[in-house]
Amino acid sequence: MRSTLITNIGELVTNDESVGDRSLLGVLRASTDAHASVLVNDEVIQWVGSSDAAPDADEVIDLGGNTLIPGFVDSHSHLVFAGDRVDEFEARMRGEKYAAGGILSTVAATRAATDETLRTRLRAFVDELHSQGTTTFEIKSGYGLNVETEERLVRLAREVTDEVTFLGAHVVPAEFNGRSEEYIALVTGEMLDACAPYSKWIDVFCDDGAFDVDQARRILSAGRARNLGVRMHANQLTLGAGVKLAVELGAAAVDHCTYLSDEDVEALAKSQTVATILPGVEFSTKHPYPNARRLLDAGVTVALASDCNPGSCFTSSMPFCIALAVREIGMTPAEALWAATAGGARALHRSDVGSLKPGMKANLVEIKAPSFRHLAYRPGVPQIGRVWIDGNLV
Ligand code: NIG
Ligand code: FE
Repeated sequence: MRSTLITNIGELVTNDESVGDRSLLGVLRASTDAHASVLVNDEVIQWVGSSDAAPDADEVIDLGGNTLIPGFVDSHSHLVFAGDRVDEFEARMRGEKYAAGGILSTVAATRAATDETLRTRLRAFVDELHSQGTTTFEIKSGYGLNVETEERLVRLAREVTDEVTFLGAHVVPAEFNGRSEEYIALVTGEMLDACAPYSKWIDVFCDDGAFDVDQARRILSAGRARNLGVRMHANQLTLGAGVKLAVELGAAAVDHCTYLSDEDVEALAKSQTVATILPGVEFSTKHPYPNARRLLDAGVTVALASDCNPGSCFTSSMPFCIALAVREIGMTPAEALWAATAGGARALHRSDVGSLKPGMKANLVEIKAPSFRHLAYRPGVPQIGRVWIDGNLV
């Protein structure tokens, strides 16, 4: 067993309300908790406290007053695809509207790509995530939309994460135009059979131009019958009944939540379903931002994720999403950081990541700043320092 003591931490964010300042983030500060430190034993956090009381360790790392946080948990991304849609982005910046149909151009490029091309791209994205402090991430399929390619996408995603989501119901592919029921039969039949072994979750894009609530219910129920957990894309483009369906089905998370009725907010507040906000999407589509304040004030659990994908939002940066959440949608820096770490863990039903308590995975991120608030305060500035996953520097 190898032990490492990380010490001289300016602010140590634990997400454990029983320690430090007893706030949501459970922050230990150099000013009040002399020499906040963390002891890591192999892959897990062993101990958190003041270094005066720290157990002996094989190695000591001095953080020089920088901040240490739990690694970001990005609970929503679409990272296995080929090509890009920068022309579509540019057109949107000139005033064109975002529509679900753009997904089909990525489907064509992805079907044509080899496994090796997709794998090389995916691994580069994983490096990109790590270098920005993301230590746990979910990846969806959804750019294959036939049995062979969807199976390839979940298989490739499974090479880099346990949090794999089958999204065969992203949109109806062109060859099934006007035959959506036949496509749903494929998704819930042969495609689900091929993809379930690699997947933990099933997802549906329930919105204008994609699947309606009745279709979504059938698709998600088929996944649930195969022991997949349920998550959803809903209420991104319109005020539909997707959020209510997510609550009805006991989904782990319902993502986007841009257009919500009072009943939606109330239903979420009474449920265990996490509302995941993806503000990079509104930034990149010029849609109105969701109202996270309304959700938080109602007592809804909110997660923050990137939704990194080639269409609606091509950023993988959780610090950027935090800056947007604070600047644009009414979250405090503490709420945004919690949502990007512990909130993401809740959205993935993970109790081993997202906070720094003894026994949790040693997924740690150094912020080269004296306070976590600098994440929102200094948007666009590379402030991520050392990143540890399972106790190993990456
Ligand atoms: O989460 N909303 C549906 N799916 C993605 C966008 C995919 C795309 O445009 O390629 C999203 O925004
Ligand atoms: Fe998405």
